[in-house]
Amino acid sequence: MLNQPPAKPRDGLQWRIDAMVSRVEDAKSKNAYYYQQAVQEIDGAWVITEEGRKLMFATYSYLGLLKHPYIDQAAKEAIDRYGTGTHGVRLLGGTLDLHLELEKTIARFHGRDDAIVFSSGYVTNLATISTLVGKGDWVISDKWNHASIVDGCTLARGHFVRFRHNDMADLERRLKQAPESAGKLVVADAVFSMDGDIFPLPDAVELCRKYNARLMIDEAHSLGVLGDTGHGIEEHFGMPGVIDVKMGTLSKTIPGVGGYITGDQELITFLKHAARAFIFSAALPPAVAAACKAGFEVIEQEGVERNRILRRNVEHFIGGLKARGFDTGVSVTPIVPIMTYDEEKAFLMTKYCQEHKVFVLPVLPPAVPPGKSRLRANVTAAHTPEDIDFALDVFEAAGKYAGVI
Ligand SMILES: Cc1ncc(COP(=O)(O)O)c(C=O)c1O
Repeated sequence: MLNQPPAKPRDGLQWRIDAMVSRVEDAKSKNAYYYQQAVQEIDGAWVITEEGRKLMFATYSYLGLLKHPYIDQAAKEAIDRYGTGTHGVRLLGGTLDLHLELEKTIARFHGRDDAIVFSSGYVTNLATISTLVGKGDWVISDKWNHASIVDGCTLARGHFVRFRHNDMADLERRLKQAPESAGKLVVADAVFSMDGDIFPLPDAVELCRKYNARLMIDEAHSLGVLGDTGHGIEEHFGMPGVIDVKMGTLSKTIPGVGGYITGDQELITFLKHAARAFIFSAALPPAVAAACKAGFEVIEQEGVERNRILRRNVEHFIGGLKARGFDTGVSVTPIVPIMTYDEEKAFLMTKYCQEHKVFVLPVLPPAVPPGKSRLRANVTAAHTPEDIDFALDVFEAAGKYAGVI
């Protein structure tokens, strides 16, 4: 009997598997499943897939740094010098001079004492929040924060509460609820990843100071994007150094993978000796560490010009969509929701776009609240004005086809 595969138990675990598999099968049966579509080649803002050449609107290469020759060269030299892996965790044998140089570069870029790099942005939030917020502490999180922040808060041993999105009166209500003696960490995205709106930093800083709370901001979608030189939300609001725990990713504007925290020396020393995801997980590969460091250097050199192009493109794209009758929500950044509200319409619009050379994807519940389905189109500095005009025409036809406009 033991060599027969056992019957699967009909339990909650199996129910969850079945529910997801049937959702995927349903989308596939309608030929509307475009997730995990493989890109075979990259040519500026265009990509080659099995279905041909498509204009990409589903990546986060905000400043168009992917395949930048200086960055690619740095990665190649790192492989020649160190090989492809580190075979170790940072605390023990896995640290290369490249990791330390990357951390110094990040700290200098953000005007902080030091930085710590983790293996992904997701892991950075998970590790940092759960390590910082202990028993008796409070973590107070914006309701629309990224999943990695939510998961970090859930994992933390302290008390986890949320405030209404970007609502400072509600943040104050939460801060008042926390015992005066409790450690308090307020966490928010700088630019929200589904709606493209910006966190009201000045008001939040004032509240954090009033209630003795620390402020952690996730700059995943604001690095390279906000501020004239792309230094992020502090530059945008003209408030250098006000964030206590500054988090960023190395997978969006920076064309690599990984995440980081930068801040004062005590914070970084603490995380480097207490964060389990740093202590018990292997160091970034050499090519990635070198590419990420080079990415920051390129922003320092070319950020102003690339940022100017990005802003021009954002205005062109959002303006064009609105003029055609689309609802783009509250976005003022390169993350542009094209609201369909209805899940079926989101699938229909996606299918039309993908069949007409525009690579865009739907965002559906539970990633967004029920009734808030949309396409999420990310515009970058790699798009030319002609690319954007081309895409606007396709979106317009798709919107009419799906009954959105
Ligand atoms: C706001 C935000 N934080 C963190 C992450 C996770 O970053 P990474 O993809 O580098 O793990 C993301 C990813 O999309 C994000 O949008």
